[in-house]
Amino acid sequence: MAKDSEPVQGGGTVPVGDSATSVEAVDTKKRALELFARHINPQKVRVMRAAGLDIIESKREGPWVYDADGRKLLDCFTSAGSFNVGRRHPRVVKAMHEAVDRLDHGNFLLCSKEKAELAAKLAQITPGDLSCVMFGTGGGEAVDFAIKLARGATQRPKIVSTVNGYHGLTGFALSAVGRDAYRLPFEPLMPGFERVEFGDEKAAASVIDGSTAAFLVEPIQGEGGVRVPPRGYLSAIRQICDEQGALLILDEIQTGFGRTGRWFASEHDGVVPDIMTVAKSLGGSMVSISATVFTEELREFLIPNPFIHVSTFGGSDLACAVAMAVIEVIEEDGLVERAAQMGEMLHSGLREIAKEYPEEVLEVRGMGLMAGLKLSDDSMGPRLSFNLSNHGVLAIYSGNEPSVMRLMPSLVVKSAEVEFLIDSTSGAIKDMLSGKGMPEPEPSRRVRRRPAR
Ligand SMILES: Cc1ncc(COP(=O)(O)O)c(C=O)c1O
Repeated sequence: MAKDSEPVQGGGTVPVGDSATSVEAVDTKKRALELFARHINPQKVRVMRAAGLDIIESKREGPWVYDADGRKLLDCFTSAGSFNVGRRHPRVVKAMHEAVDRLDHGNFLLCSKEKAELAAKLAQITPGDLSCVMFGTGGGEAVDFAIKLARGATQRPKIVSTVNGYHGLTGFALSAVGRDAYRLPFEPLMPGFERVEFGDEKAAASVIDGSTAAFLVEPIQGEGGVRVPPRGYLSAIRQICDEQGALLILDEIQTGFGRTGRWFASEHDGVVPDIMTVAKSLGGSMVSISATVFTEELREFLIPNPFIHVSTFGGSDLACAVAMAVIEVIEEDGLVERAAQMGEMLHSGLREIAKEYPEEVLEVRGMGLMAGLKLSDDSMGPRLSFNLSNHGVLAIYSGNEPSVMRLMPSLVVKSAEVEFLIDSTSGAIKDMLSGKGMPEPEPSRRVRRRPAR
């Protein structure tokens, strides 16, 4: 990993210490892409290739990732904010080795030391009176349980979420997602879901009523285009929910664990939800784990029903031991403060770029190391991903708003790496606008026609 004073290099062909020779490496990459196309999804390979993202991750180290062909890239996608402690952080890897030596998943119905310790730690680091935990394996599952708990505890049906919000593509979570393309093919979904514009407290007030179990929202929309709501929005929502006896669920799956320069993004507004969902970075790039954290008052619903929600692999002993090490790394290495500092540097560099390209870069969004560049049209997202990859940066535009490029490096980045990111972004925008380096169009495919009836 580069030290602060070291020049940082990305892109180009960088020998990868323990990887194969370049001919073998190219073969490895080709084979992986071919098999992926054949057995998983050829269109995914095409889309990724067109955006310069046909990367086969090989060596992963701190804020960096290496393509199988040897290219070194600063990982600014980080699996949508899943690698806050960097890739394979040495202390997390060590904790995982130690855990593997003595643990396995554990019997999910039994009480476990690892689950208990991690639950206590989550109760300590989450704000206010959040103190009870249900573990899961991924973000969608954490949101599913949050919605179940809200409905079960309030005995009310309505769930209100936001347009362009993203909460995962599982059952209840999918019903709340704010993008039609994800939902419509699967209708009818769960009844009782409504969506309102994000950041508009009046719109929220018009639908949150006595039949509302919960309002579900991200403190900053991630997939929705790194959208920060107007100041005071979350507090206003909190008040509206309180007035109507509805619960507030904050989805901190992307914004949590220091990403925005506070442990949880809602702390910027001093708002405490009734239920908070966390996942992604809790697993430290090594294990899949999520948690729904809630108040003791809501836990009352689970007291007579301790088995009403279970997940065989949710909060496995192994994952809990690793997650505990992740939280310790964030604490001990001051990564929350680092995100705030490095975020300031990143945002000020991006604002300079926006000044240079006022027609194309319309806005710099985000907080801490969750940054977004709002570009002037949707096609620019994939084109900028492509050019960033040529400049040694792995970055992917927002899922629900492709005109927004997301830059979310690991919180372990040093100032030299942030400078590298700013320079690369500037160079990539320049190349994008000059039309340099775009991929060859895919050869037209023969369309297999349906036999005539
Ligand atoms: C805010 C938010 N909630 C939920 C999810 C879903 O998480 P998972 O993909 O682990 O189900 C995501 C994933 O990107 C997310 O960003």
